Amino acid sequence: MPRIIAPSVLSADFARLGEEVEMINQSQAEWLHVDVMDGVFVPNISFGFPVMETLRRYSRKPLDVHLMITHPEKYVERFCEAGAWSVGFHLEATDDPRPALEMIRNKGVRTCLTINPDIDVHRLDPYLAEVDMVLIMSVFAGFGGQKFIPESLDKVRYLREQISRQGFSTLIEVDGGINEQNAKQVFGAGADVLVAGSAVFHAREPKVAIRNMLDE
Ligand code: DX5
Ligand code: ZN
Repeated sequence: MPRIIAPSVLSADFARLGEEVEMINQSQAEWLHVDVMDGVFVPNISFGFPVMETLRRYSRKPLDVHLMITHPEKYVERFCEAGAWSVGFHLEATDDPRPALEMIRNKGVRTCLTINPDIDVHRLDPYLAEVDMVLIMSVFAGFGGQKFIPESLDKVRYLREQISRQGFSTLIEVDGGINEQNAKQVFGAGADVLVAGSAVFHAREPKVAIRNMLDE
């Protein structure tokens, strides 16, 4: 199983965005996580296409786009065209996620379905065979710097079991409140990819923080 750290650029210093991205380029992080918020699905607004353009220009790491927006089907193609390596959106933001998944797939981009902490993990069951990744939110989507919700580990264990038992290659990503102290436990529960925002960008030595999260 791969162990991937995806720093969330939401916690970066936007006045030094190019430098922050270069720091990630030189780190052991494999992806760069891009949190897009619309102020409707979540009570916060982050950034959109102009920032995506900058990230695409500077990042040598694949852009893992996490859409926290209503009507994802209206925007997924544009995020694919803006250089996303994977595009994920919230299951609970749609009546039927399949049209948006299809649009992403048709662009040759990897698909991801996400659920907030109050959404039953079993709702992902019907999609495990067809998406490239599922993303378990371990805080409520909307803000960086929140505390990890320990019950999220049960969802990760459940998904790991389902995916292994059925022989799928679906990746499990966990996002929210991940730090050097709990990363090992979350990987241990079966996660492949950990998103970390404040624990990376607010660390005194971000590259060391990333390395520590990957330590066995
Ligand atoms: C929350 C975002 C997360 C967030 C993680 O809505 O999806 O990716 O930036 O930040 P930390 O690691 O600080 O919880
Ligand atoms: Zn995120």
